[in-house]
Amino acid sequence: MPLLAIETTCDETAAAVITRDRVVLSSVVASQDELHARWRGVVPEVASRAHVERIVPVIDEAVSRSGIAKTELEAVAVAVSPGLVGSLLVGLAAAKGLAAALEIPIVGYDHIAAHLYACRLAHGASGIYPCVGLVASGGHTSLFHVKSPLELERLGGTIDDAAGEAFDKAASLLGLGYPGGPWIERAAVGGNPKAHRLPRPLANDRERLDLSFSGLKTALRYLVRPPGAPADTPPPTGQRLADLAASFQQAAVDAILAKVELALDRTGCRSLAIGGGVTANTLLRESIEQLGRRKGVAVFIPPRSLCTDNAAMGAIAWERLARGENDGLELDVLPGTDRSAARRNALRR
Ligand code: KG4
Ligand code: ZN
Repeated sequence: MPLLAIETTCDETAAAVITRDRVVLSSVVASQDELHARWRGVVPEVASRAHVERIVPVIDEAVSRSGIAKTELEAVAVAVSPGLVGSLLVGLAAAKGLAAALEIPIVGYDHIAAHLYACRLAHGASGIYPCVGLVASGGHTSLFHVKSPLELERLGGTIDDAAGEAFDKAASLLGLGYPGGPWIERAAVGGNPKAHRLPRPLANDRERLDLSFSGLKTALRYLVRPPGAPADTPPPTGQRLADLAASFQQAAVDAILAKVELALDRTGCRSLAIGGGVTANTLLRESIEQLGRRKGVAVFIPPRSLCTDNAAMGAIAWERLARGENDGLELDVLPGTDRSAARRNALRR
């Protein structure tokens, strides 16, 4: 019997029904992009409230499209970290309610590990593990040594903005829409990626697997509006816009590629898996394929629909169920928090 996976870590309300054989019977994603577009970034309170409104219809839609009855579900899986706490709590409350009502196990899963599991879901397990894993999304940009779906050793990652955040801010600077990645990608078509010299921060540092995007973002800002230019300088248009978008995109991809290559060299892994919203980017996907060919490394790339946030990647919960793990209704979005100490301190005050 299948499980129901729930995803509400950030600004997508998603649910999916997945069989033990990792067949996705249904996957429903309700995007909140239009709610956050005017702020050009996710507003946590707006996100939580939208999840509250949407979670039940999204779950019902996923179950209905799957062709099975709720009573046939074997377990409920829910992304419990990392994420916006208000958003996470909505998914967790829904998952606990269902698990209690149906008297079935509840299993929490890690959203980042799930992004990489999208590769396993799309391509099967054969040949993936151990691998280097790149997760590049709006909230995270990290490299892992992935020994198995649930065993991820973090090798490094961004020391400031996430790659997706940089795309979102770059789009905003260029007067484009939200989320920025797809806008930059479209604006870059026909642009010259060498038109503007933009930095690839930390890319030449072979000592560290850290990445940085804030300097790239600032460099773009000064190209768009040089120091002293009036605040109401209109955003670029036409060929200048295309060149700026292409130059930014190339710099961001180069910076990521440099560290992916270093991670492959350090670990000696013969395979590479990627995931997260930014990995929907065509230039990044093609560059990763090229890197794989050049280094003789097998490359696993999920289809675009599994790159941005979705609940189908919650199929990773089957890996925990296979180990006999069940979190029960004690499942928490702040694991490791010493609640009793917090309560004692609160009472003392
Ligand atoms: O994984 P995701 O859906 O949510 C998080 O877990 O953060 O990633 C969303 C991020 C946004 O910053 C968005 O601009 C970026 O992924 N993104 C892209 C593309 N599509 C989405 N970045 C570059 N190119 C794209 N085609
Ligand atoms: Zn994500």
